[in-house]
Amino acid sequence: MDEAKVEQFMGGLIGHMTGAMACFGIWLGDELGLYRALVDGGPQTAEALSAATGTNTRLVEEWGRGQAAAGLLQRDASGVYAITEEAALALANEDAPVFLARGMAVLGSLFCDFDKIAAAYRGNGAMSWGEHDQHLFGGTEWFFRPGYRNFLATEWIPAMAGVADTLTAGGSIADVGCGHGASAVVLAQAYPKARVHGFDFHEPSIQTAAKRAAEAGVADRITVEVASAVGYPGSYDLICFFDCLHDMGDPVGIARYAREHLNAGGSVLLVEPFALDGDANITENPMAALLYHASAAICTPNSLSQEVGLGIGAQAGPGRLQSVFTDAGFSQFEVVASSPVNLVIQARV
Ligand SMILES: C[S@@+](CC[C@H](N)C(=O)[O-])C[C@H]1O[C@@H](n2cnc3c(N)ncnc32)[C@H](O)[C@@H]1O
Repeated sequence: MDEAKVEQFMGGLIGHMTGAMACFGIWLGDELGLYRALVDGGPQTAEALSAATGTNTRLVEEWGRGQAAAGLLQRDASGVYAITEEAALALANEDAPVFLARGMAVLGSLFCDFDKIAAAYRGNGAMSWGEHDQHLFGGTEWFFRPGYRNFLATEWIPAMAGVADTLTAGGSIADVGCGHGASAVVLAQAYPKARVHGFDFHEPSIQTAAKRAAEAGVADRITVEVASAVGYPGSYDLICFFDCLHDMGDPVGIARYAREHLNAGGSVLLVEPFALDGDANITENPMAALLYHASAAICTPNSLSQEVGLGIGAQAGPGRLQSVFTDAGFSQFEVVASSPVNLVIQARV
């Protein structure tokens, strides 16, 4: 036994535990408005912060010390807490490209679902999206929303051959597996002449998507409907799958259905979690540890709960995704953009 190696391993393990606890603290800080109060009110004591947010002073003091120990907030010798400009972007500014605080709800939901997920492992591996704790749905929206708001209309669609012009002139878009509609709202705002149709098989998500469209003032250009990825009506110039194709049981059948519902010259926009091909993904993708664990608890069980149950997982990589589209009869498949979180792909017939 190499004691130095044990110590090193334990250091890493405690780091993971600290990260999990810090994520919980971040989720709470956002939910209770603590970060926003620090931005709005400037540096302040726990007493002032709790008064501003209607929370318990003693608990806020303890939370604040944990946040300072984690390097998320500053605390001076007189017990005054402050948030840096950079931290405020990630923790308090909903519109910032790096706003991540609310996405922590995804992690929280998994702890709530521990028994159900363990039962899926002991059974046939299946657990459908709608069986999860409700925090998963909002957490997913907020995990992906910053990327859609910041890159979808400015970088991803412009990187696709011929699509921006079609949507600027009008055109029709299907957002399949639209969840809470974060991407549909961005598309409707960016292309006011286009018509956006959001579909998802999860009814509560569709209800929230309708609410989001109304809140954003684009309800006149978005329709949302409960429909499976092989059951939506109509034909479209652009059919999108935002971070959801890998969640589905039959990605080949679903891509084929999309091909049959594309207008002439139309494209599929496939946005998937970032991954590399092959085992290099495990060692060389800094997002892999996060995304494989999410895949093993959320995406793959959902896929296994559906017909075919291919279970390609959230870390399939571009090569595996291309084979799905080739099998579905697409002749062109190109990675047109990427970010640390997403791969962006255009597929055409
Ligand atoms: C990871 S979430 C992504 C949601 C949304 N596109 C986003 O990026 O925020 C996956 C979504 O796919 C939906 N979904 C999974 N399987 C589906 C299927 N077979 N048909 C339609 N929607 C499905 C789920 O209900 C869920 O809203």
